[in-house]
Amino acid sequence: MAKAAIWCWVLAIVAAGCAGESDDGSVGKALFTRNGCAVCHGPDGRGDGQIAATLQPPPRDFRDPTAYKNGHSKAAIARTIQKGMPGTSMPGYRHLSAEEREQIAVYIRSLLKDKEGK
Ligand code: HEC
Repeated sequence: MAKAAIWCWVLAIVAAGCAGESDDGSVGKALFTRNGCAVCHGPDGRGDGQIAATLQPPPRDFRDPTAYKNGHSKAAIARTIQKGMPGTSMPGYRHLSAEEREQIAVYIRSLLKDKEGK
């Protein structure tokens, strides 16, 4: 019995690691970089990407909770990523899975918490 319990525990940890369930946003950060978000939003989401200065309106600083037009809940950010923002250079990312969009949203929200927490 005790042996089975230990196995369950080990499997649970391995499964969580594989699925990227840790909510620290590291999976989302990798997706953020890989999908080119950083070109506009900057490597740390501060609105200082390589082409940010050429955009009108410019991308916001994700650390500032008052900067979000569409809200900054996880669901709201995931929806913005899916649909983009018509009339701006923010493209929609419909080709990402819902899970990937949520992981990016978790990462973006982790930036927010940094600012609020300090
Ligand atoms: C070509 C440049 C560009 C790329 C690439 C881009 N964005 Fe944006 N994004 C913008 C701009 C510009 C805005 C601001 C629009 C505004 O303020 O009206 C924006 C806004 C946003 C917002 C919402 C803010 C709000 O006001 O509610 C989120 C969240 C966001 N982007 C996430 C992402 C993510 C995640 C990616 C990559 C998957 C990405 N963006 C890729 C330019 C870009």
